Amino acid sequence: MKVLLIGSGGREHALAWKLAQSELVEELLVAPGNPGIAMLPKTLNVALNVDNHEEILDYVKACGIGLVVVGPEAPLVAGLADVLRANGIPVFGPNKSAAELEGSKAFSKEMMAKYNIPTAFYKICEDVATAKAYIEEKGAPIVVKADGLAAGKGVVVAMTKEQALAAVDDMMGDMCFGAAGARVVIEEFMEGEEASLLAFTDGKTVVPMIASQDHKRVGDGDQGPNTGGMGTYAPAPVMTPELRQKAYDTILKPMVDAMAKEGKPYQGCLYAGLMIKGDSVKVVEFNCRFGDPETQVVLPLLDGDLAEIMLACANGTLDQVKIAWHKRAAVCVVMASAGYPGSYAKGKEITGLNDVSENSVVFHAGTKEVEGNIVTNGGRVLGVTAFADDIKSARDKAYEAVAKVNFEGAFCRKDIAWRALNR
Ligand code: AMP
Ligand code: GLY
Repeated sequence: MKVLLIGSGGREHALAWKLAQSELVEELLVAPGNPGIAMLPKTLNVALNVDNHEEILDYVKACGIGLVVVGPEAPLVAGLADVLRANGIPVFGPNKSAAELEGSKAFSKEMMAKYNIPTAFYKICEDVATAKAYIEEKGAPIVVKADGLAAGKGVVVAMTKEQALAAVDDMMGDMCFGAAGARVVIEEFMEGEEASLLAFTDGKTVVPMIASQDHKRVGDGDQGPNTGGMGTYAPAPVMTPELRQKAYDTILKPMVDAMAKEGKPYQGCLYAGLMIKGDSVKVVEFNCRFGDPETQVVLPLLDGDLAEIMLACANGTLDQVKIAWHKRAAVCVVMASAGYPGSYAKGKEITGLNDVSENSVVFHAGTKEVEGNIVTNGGRVLGVTAFADDIKSARDKAYEAVAKVNFEGAFCRKDIAWRALNR
């Protein structure tokens, strides 16, 4: 089978790395891909305009693609899966109406409220006055979220009332996230430890993956501004077998059933960002795709054929596939460009990429090939990932690999996996 994967980041490199290992996959085409992806066996980057759904459809038909896997949220929220599915093409990834679980935080909260899925209490606000009045009523700490997609930056966790009020002015008054902030969701601040639980689903059967934990703040000890994610590890011990079962019973399965009931069947990867405190597990957010950089640590632990699983999700036969996990651990350390998550330079030559040892993989997130050299082309540049029997060994190996790779202005967090290791 020929597979087309949409996307170009570290998540897509990890997806491609696992898909290329499948015996079902004869050829893997990735649009637009990245230089790391291009080095995988059986794999080719293709220059397609991902925003042009007709162009993608024509290409899929012309090449006889047997499965399309959509990596990022934007094309899903824009309805790429709908166009392909309507033409009989097997797709891994939800339709537009189901991708609204990530595309609109208001929709997501309303679904959770309607189906009693545990989450923070909240109010959807359409204007500044309502938003501010609610903040005055509830006090701080409190969380202000832009309704629409804002590249992971649309959330302000306000420790004071003033910060919350300023966030409302930024989002709704100054429209700092454009139309995405025309509506805001204001919600209760939840205490606890976060974990990401991703699940495969065909719209009926739901199979949770291994739990992982991201590190969203830029600095060690979880200090500084939020980023897209500075590193991950899996499995996350905070997610005990009991909590995992609870998350399945009260969150993942009810949401997939609810979406089917609403006539918006959800198929693909359902990402639940969870807050865990004691034996309570609540939803922070849903995403309609794999996590980045969670994918980089979760998929290497999958003991099975990703293409087979994804095809079963697309065809509604996930109940017939057995999904197992290696009893190992993985740690991913993101190497970023100086200045990230603010502005940063691009085009810095990356060295040492071939020096990392066995049991480590460097996933490319923001790189570009220029005259045979790999150079930086983003804020998050590389996801240096290592596997071992336990988290500590995987962490040590990941940092050994990080030490071999270099580019001007490179930095990373030094404490990835600290919560697991402090236990
Ligand atoms: P999100 O984009 O919704 O994942 O939010 C980004 C980050 O903000 C999350 O990973 C949490 O660390 C934090 N956050 C979001 N909502 C809440 C909440 N209700 N309580 C506490 N922290 C939150
Ligand atoms: N790592 C956070 C996300 O993918 O949304």
